[in-house]
Amino acid sequence: MRVPDRVTMCEVGTRDGFQIEPEFIPTDVKVEVVNLLSAAGLPRIEVTSFVHPKAVPQLRDAEQVMARITRRPGTRYAALVPNDKGAVRAVDAGVDAIHTVVSASESHNLANVNMTIAESLDKLRAVMQVATRAGVHVGCGISTSFGCPFEGDVPMAQLESVVRRLVDMGARAIGLAATTGMAKPRQVARVLEHLMPRFPGIEWTLHTHDTRAMAIPNILAAMECGVTNFDASIGGLGGCPFAPGASGNVCTEDLVHCLHAMGVATGIDLDRLLAASRRVQEVVGRPLPGQIVKAGPSTRRYPLPDSVAGRIAAARA
Ligand code: COA
Ligand code: ZN
Repeated sequence: MRVPDRVTMCEVGTRDGFQIEPEFIPTDVKVEVVNLLSAAGLPRIEVTSFVHPKAVPQLRDAEQVMARITRRPGTRYAALVPNDKGAVRAVDAGVDAIHTVVSASESHNLANVNMTIAESLDKLRAVMQVATRAGVHVGCGISTSFGCPFEGDVPMAQLESVVRRLVDMGARAIGLAATTGMAKPRQVARVLEHLMPRFPGIEWTLHTHDTRAMAIPNILAAMECGVTNFDASIGGLGGCPFAPGASGNVCTEDLVHCLHAMGVATGIDLDRLLAASRRVQEVVGRPLPGQIVKAGPSTRRYPLPDSVAGRIAAARA
């Protein structure tokens, strides 16, 4: 199996996850969670989004969160942005990176950002200009890359056309998102094998949701194709408020555990990540989908039952 020596993870739980929490999470708690994640060694964190506060009321405190977090050297702090207004807000708030959003399907783009794909791309051109002037990195995400909850299959030509228009306007980092978990491992490989040679020099990211329990298999497929950037969310929080049936992202600590177990480095401290996940469960007030928080890492050992220990001792005697 072809796996890289190292991958770069981006934590999106405080954005993709928190955005659908119905109860407002106090700003200080959001700040605390971001700080726990950076202290665990996350190299990238998508902290929040600069969108319309009526569209996503939970993240209406984006400026305050950015202002209060502790900036750990070695962590790149990003925010999701749909248009130039969001980009100006994000730059003013001091982000290191802007993550843009447009969908590969018209209906999801209209539902999500109230724009056609063409209108979104016009706004993203302005976003790039704002970011370039400010010296801020831009990563361009494409929602519903592997299927749309309204339209079903997204033709390869349609996805490729969105990628091409982003690349033509200067995009150098592109994230393909399985917004509602419709991606399947062989499809992920097929899409990457199609796109990667056509757009040389692009840094690809896979953004997965585990809605249909295929997130880690999809990530394995992407690694086989040479992708080394993955989004994940602590505890498996997450979902898109504008995509029916969307549920959590691939769980950060489960993915980190899986990668470390395969000898793929992430630079992340799993124990600290597990502690952060427990804290996030307290914050949202319910158990999250993550498995490793429940099971412990695969290196965990249990004491032998007395009866078994007795039989082993007797056999040795
Ligand atoms: N942040 C704050 N306010 C914004 C904004 C932003 N990024 N973008 C636009 N606005 C304001 C405008 O200034 C305008 O304000 P006014 O009425 O006081 O003049 C108002 O919103 C309407 O502007 P318009 O460009 O017509 O926006 P819209 O109502 O069509 O909404 C989005 C478009 C993109 C702002 C909105 O759909 C949105 O925020 N979507 C978020 C989607 C999301 O986060 N999805 C989940 C993640 S994938
Ligand atoms: Zn997502």
